[in-house]
Amino acid sequence: MRIVDICSIPKSTSNYITFLRNIFLDFRGFLISRHFQFPSEMNLRQINKNDLKVIQKIYQTAFGESPGISFRLYMKLFQRICYVYETNGCILGYLNTYIRPYSLNGKKIIWMCESSVAVSPSSRGMGIAFLMLSENNKIAKLNNIYCIYADVREDNPASLSLHKKCGFQLKGPYPHHYKDGSSGYVAINLLDW
Ligand SMILES: CC(C)(COP(=O)(O)OP(=O)(O)OC[C@H]1O[C@@H](n2cnc3c(N)ncnc32)[C@H](O)[C@@H]1OP(=O)(O)O)[C@@H](O)C(=O)NCCC(=O)NCCS
Repeated sequence: MRIVDICSIPKSTSNYITFLRNIFLDFRGFLISRHFQFPSEMNLRQINKNDLKVIQKIYQTAFGESPGISFRLYMKLFQRICYVYETNGCILGYLNTYIRPYSLNGKKIIWMCESSVAVSPSSRGMGIAFLMLSENNKIAKLNNIYCIYADVREDNPASLSLHKKCGFQLKGPYPHHYKDGSSGYVAINLLDW
């Protein structure tokens, strides 16, 4: 379910199959995102190529490391459904999402996955992340998304609380949920059962 690391070379046949399957699913998700509809009034702005540097800076400040290649590739592929919160020409936060289509019991299901959300430290606590996730809930509903999915680290109380406030149910914690071995929750917001 996590973002495929496009740059890692698969070491076995089964890994190759998963790798190719993920690329295929991403491509289908990209095609779906191209037909997305948006509310007539939106408090977020879709990203453009001029935003990449600022987004990378906010990411770096928030997570203490530069975004990997897969983050940048996903942001480009799903540019249409990645947003910034901007005020007076200044970007204060971003929300990146992507789409994954699945089949469940023969029914086609479209998931939206939250790739990353962050707000500049000086602008935190002002409701910006809440606004971004709430707007995204509206966009998802408008486009018949089945559910929104996010991974949240166990040691991130701000994000856990934010997701609960935005209608997500938390499952877990699951040990070794992240590649670095740390545990985390799966946050799921079911929009249409
Ligand atoms: C998590 C983060 C995005 C929240 O952004 P924000 O704009 O400050 O959040 P908001 O002001 O919209 O707060 C909305 C809710 O989130 C929760 N929250 C936000 N900051 C919190 C904190 N420091 N401690 C506990 N809960 C917090 C609260 O439930 C809050 O609702 P409330 O104000 O009614 O209590 C921000 O702290 C951040 O960028 N962190 C670093 C990046 C990160 O961890 N991203 C999430 C990865 S899954």
